[in-house]
Amino acid sequence: MGKSITHKIIEKHLVSGEMIPGQEVGLRIDQTLTQDATGTMAWLQFEAINIGRVRTDLSVSYVDHNTLQMGFRNPDDHRYLRTVAAKSGAIFSPAGTGICHQLHLENFAKPGATLIGSDSHTPTAGGIGSMAMGAGGLSVALAMAGEPYFIPMPKVVKVHLTGALTGWAQGKDVILHLLGLLTVKGGVGKVFEYAGPGVAALSVPDRATITNMGAELGATTSIFPSDARTRDFLEKMGRSSDFMELVADADAVYDEVIEIDLSRLEPLVAQPHMPDRVCTVKSLAGKAIDQVAIGSCTNSSYSDLKNTAQILAGRRTPPQTDLLISPGSKQVVKLLAHEGLIEPLLDAGARILECTCGPCIGMGGSPVSAGVSVRTFNRNFEGRSGTQDGQVYLASAQTAARLALDGQFTDPATWGDAPERVELPMDVPSIRDLFVFPPNEVGKDAGDGAGSVVILRGPNIVALEEFDALPATIETTVALKVGDNITTDHILPAGAEITALRSNIPAISQYIFSRVDKEFVARITQAGTGVIVGGENYGQGSSREHAALGPRHLGVKAVIVKSLARIHRANLVNFGILPLLLVNPGDYDALAQDAGLTIPASAITPGGTVDIRLASGESVAVTNDLTKKELEIIQSGGLLNAVRKNQA
Ligand code: F3S
Repeated sequence: MGKSITHKIIEKHLVSGEMIPGQEVGLRIDQTLTQDATGTMAWLQFEAINIGRVRTDLSVSYVDHNTLQMGFRNPDDHRYLRTVAAKSGAIFSPAGTGICHQLHLENFAKPGATLIGSDSHTPTAGGIGSMAMGAGGLSVALAMAGEPYFIPMPKVVKVHLTGALTGWAQGKDVILHLLGLLTVKGGVGKVFEYAGPGVAALSVPDRATITNMGAELGATTSIFPSDARTRDFLEKMGRSSDFMELVADADAVYDEVIEIDLSRLEPLVAQPHMPDRVCTVKSLAGKAIDQVAIGSCTNSSYSDLKNTAQILAGRRTPPQTDLLISPGSKQVVKLLAHEGLIEPLLDAGARILECTCGPCIGMGGSPVSAGVSVRTFNRNFEGRSGTQDGQVYLASAQTAARLALDGQFTDPATWGDAPERVELPMDVPSIRDLFVFPPNEVGKDAGDGAGSVVILRGPNIVALEEFDALPATIETTVALKVGDNITTDHILPAGAEITALRSNIPAISQYIFSRVDKEFVARITQAGTGVIVGGENYGQGSSREHAALGPRHLGVKAVIVKSLARIHRANLVNFGILPLLLVNPGDYDALAQDAGLTIPASAITPGGTVDIRLASGESVAVTNDLTKKELEIIQSGGLLNAVRKNQA
């Protein structure tokens, strides 16, 4: 029986388990990446494991999220990340070098390699055939320590592409089409593997946009074959030796198949406030646009920005429409500068921002009150832009650039010819020297090695607290009741003020659910413990483990929900919070905020059902999808406790 690409990579990296969908598999991890928003915590956890040097083939610590250096907190964090990387044998990418996923794709990702990153859009590297997954920071810390990464064996969905994109349709429209079809829950437990004759017609940047935003489907990851176009991309990046061909066997077996004829796609847009609220651009014709933002790890490649420059050249955006551009990396900027493409952007009225996440994470560039912002990003959750009532629409870079000129949504039929689809030029300038490579190991280069590196910390970097083991019986109350599709942005909002506290759990915890219920922190602090009750798809969105760590610090013992998003579920396990699932979703109504309840924690078994007793006398049945090992981790009080116990 033939194998898919996913099966080939998993088989090669399998250290435990069987490749049966749903069963836990342990994978050897070749590469890791961290970014600063989640990375300081991941590195504090790596230090707590006390292993010394990283044991992966390659680990990179990027600074791209919170790069504003106003006050001591962010510069201190950046210095900590630089010094801990040097001490531990990791590569460091300083603030402003670029966005982690764009940089990793350009410089380090390899076909056939496994990569986990403490950022949910790590699957971007699937655009060149890496098996790349977003993970909690602690999982990344453990992978850096040489431990396997455990996931439920995913189902593999073949996305069979035929035809070729025409006109203004782009890679972004492929993934928006899929999101409209499958919704933000449609990919849970699945890998989306792209195949078919249409693959060859997609450039590597288009492929990376598609795998990047597969995260919005809730997928484990997405992956493209490594083929002639991949070889060409790696060659131009000066990385020919990293190429290997990787395609599925002709008779590969898949769990599901989805067909997409690329030639039938047209420019699409996701409406506020969910990436799956997809409609055609033309259906919104006439709606005014206050702001356009081009960038993010989804659409900030050389191709995207060259096309943007071509569309804007010789024209001017209207005065009521602001245009922001955040290039994905310094390499992209150097290429644009080399080809004289910065000037058309500036002359069109664009503000060119630093090569960072920027407006995507609410670091500047917020839209006006109730403003309509068309963004090339991957998420449009309410408030994420930094303007609570901002109306964010998601589109391709080419669509966004064209709309910036019109200052309103217009029908693509009126746009004229689309710019030529561009590939990388022959001469791509390297930015490799801008990374900080670790000094040699002690003994190999005495006096200049990692042994002489001192890890520098500032007062905002607070060592991790040790959590208690799970009690046998949990007597507590419903500290907060929320609805469906609660995102990690709801749990812990993004923004400069909050993410500056990412290395200080007691301080950042004060913002948990702050935009949902301002009284929550005071209420649970007074009670000492509590549970969260939620609806479907609780915890969707980013991989930020602070959305589990903060509640844990405040005393949250369990979340009781209808269903959970994958990475957040893993983060809850890692920090010792019980993820409980309502057997009967209708029981959601019985769990009122402030209700007293008792959870028989010691009676919980993997996949088993227990009754939660309510103070009212009623009972509610809950189950779980935990493995034996995950349950033991929660009982120990979290993964760090469990690892320390094993080490002892
Ligand atoms: Fe950064 Fe936004 Fe991507 S925060 S990593 S550009 S999703």
